[in-house]
Amino acid sequence: MSTNKVHQRVRSGLLNRLAYVSPSAGYGVKLDAMESPYEWPGDIQEKWLLALKDIHLNRYPNGSAVDLCAAIRQWAGIDESLGLVLGNGSDELIQMIAMTVCSCERPLLSTEPTFSMYRIISESVGSKYIDVPLTEDFDIDLNALLAAIDKHDPGCIFFAYPNNPTGNLFDPKKIQAVTEAMNGLVIIDEAYFSYSRETFMPYMHTVDNVAVLRTFSKFGLAGLRLGFLVGPKSWLREIDKVRLPYNISTLTQVTGQFALSCSEWFESKVRDICFERERFEAEVRKFPQLIVYPSAANFFLIRFEVRDMDVVVDKLLDGNIMVKNLDNQHEKLRGCIRVTVGTPDENDQFLQVLRKALD
Ligand SMILES: Cc1ncc(COP(=O)(O)O)c(C=O)c1O
Repeated sequence: MSTNKVHQRVRSGLLNRLAYVSPSAGYGVKLDAMESPYEWPGDIQEKWLLALKDIHLNRYPNGSAVDLCAAIRQWAGIDESLGLVLGNGSDELIQMIAMTVCSCERPLLSTEPTFSMYRIISESVGSKYIDVPLTEDFDIDLNALLAAIDKHDPGCIFFAYPNNPTGNLFDPKKIQAVTEAMNGLVIIDEAYFSYSRETFMPYMHTVDNVAVLRTFSKFGLAGLRLGFLVGPKSWLREIDKVRLPYNISTLTQVTGQFALSCSEWFESKVRDICFERERFEAEVRKFPQLIVYPSAANFFLIRFEVRDMDVVVDKLLDGNIMVKNLDNQHEKLRGCIRVTVGTPDENDQFLQVLRKALD
């Protein structure tokens, strides 16, 4: 079929977009995607492989991932009064939410700069996307947000808490004020909960339009693709209707359950990363030409005085260090990179290459 014919049929909003491309691994020190730098030690890997031996890949998975749901409920302290839906990563749950409550008339609302998938997914499902800029110190601009809610009556609003890529936690009182003003669903995306330990889970019991989104990706299982959404049953029942059958593979279900049975190992690695986070911040603060923003997550937003960030990022790549260049992503992120906290050795390598890049 000619390109022209394809273009006549593809939804107009998609034509000018590029497919999402994530840089492949291959650099010595990969600090661009907020992954954990730690792999399971040999003894845990062996037990995991034994658990995998019992699965039947000729059969479809359990469609509701019943055992994994029960294990997640117990581990995360989710009582039966709340609904729980699992996704192939939290990205899939964001998509399911947008498909359920948003449309070209009923927008998905967010605050920017934030996690880019809110916009990308909203546009992919044909929904309108509205963003309200954060304040200069990256907090919620409450008056502007309340005005946007009043004007657009959005299907839902997403808050990344802590926010990606800025690393801060928003003022919870502002989120509560937004919740009171919203007719739609308020999603608190707690992807970095392991590192912040701040949550809206208890608050969910006091209101009827808040849901909490979590992922296994950031504390050590990014390759697993497993996220979960907790919230009022009345909302989650509807969201579950757009879930594709068997979205959680048998491999993911068994591995997820296995991972929760050795959750202490993950928690010890989270503690190591939080410890490193303090040292990393202190070290970056020693560079007078950089601003490092405080972070409740496992990454830092760092601003450079120099304006040619491609040169800086290329110098880091030459030194085998991969970070995320945010310079072109939002006007409030000019001169910024986002760097994941790695192992002590990886962080030292980053600091060393950074020192050279700034010389
Ligand atoms: C705030 C936030 N939410 C969700 C995700 C996506 O997580 P997942 O790997 O579960 O799709 C990310 C990933 O960077 C994120 O930063």
